Amino acid sequence: MARVPHDISWDEYNAAQAGREPRASLAAALAAVGPLPDDGEPRVALDVGCGEGIEVSALLDAGWEVHAVDGEAAPLRRLAERVPATQRERLHVHHLAYADLVALPEADLVHASYSLPYCPPAHFPRVWAAVRAALRPGAVLACQLFGPHDDAYGDPEMTFHTAEGARALLAGLDVVDWTEEDADGQSYTGPKHWHVFHVVARRPA
Ligand SMILES: C[S@@+](CC[C@H](N)C(=O)[O-])C[C@H]1O[C@@H](n2cnc3c(N)ncnc32)[C@H](O)[C@@H]1O
Repeated sequence: MARVPHDISWDEYNAAQAGREPRASLAAALAAVGPLPDDGEPRVALDVGCGEGIEVSALLDAGWEVHAVDGEAAPLRRLAERVPATQRERLHVHHLAYADLVALPEADLVHASYSLPYCPPAHFPRVWAAVRAALRPGAVLACQLFGPHDDAYGDPEMTFHTAEGARALLAGLDVVDWTEEDADGQSYTGPKHWHVFHVVARRPA
């Protein structure tokens, strides 16, 4: 089982997320998508590194068809168990480690909150290419990338980017929102200095 750097399991972290509100990055992504056409067609969303699936549930509640991707089996199982029967056919669960992630389903919205930095550097280019390839024309991507001032910087199992490097990853996308957080704060395991690029971007239609 993958470890949260360095003292708790991802299962413990994810289980502790139960009951929290959906992340602001999901609201930002949905705002960038705008109102869905009233044509009865469910739009497709993808949550990469969804963990407990709080945002997956919010997307299902909002009528989306959702692909939930994570490397941990336990939170995906809890997600599948708690989703109401009326939503089950719109949920697709993918138990997939970054090491094995080659392609992702195409989507109109791709959300990846605080998950992509935990992809090891050896796998990041392939995983990022899969995320980019999953974006349909006009699709919105919301994610966080971590910068070099982050307390976790230097963890060999994580991937960090300078602001320039993160911007380069977004080449060809329209950046809807770019917020750099470089501040002391809290993490699940205690106080932490965060250096985070909060990104919302759209593939041009
Ligand atoms: C900080 S959590 C974020 C979870 C959720 N998106 C959120 O916002 O709460 C990071 C997620 O990445 C997943 N993860 C960590 N390492 C992974 C790996 N090597 N392959 C796939 N998923 C991984 C963990 O299981 C966890 O759900």
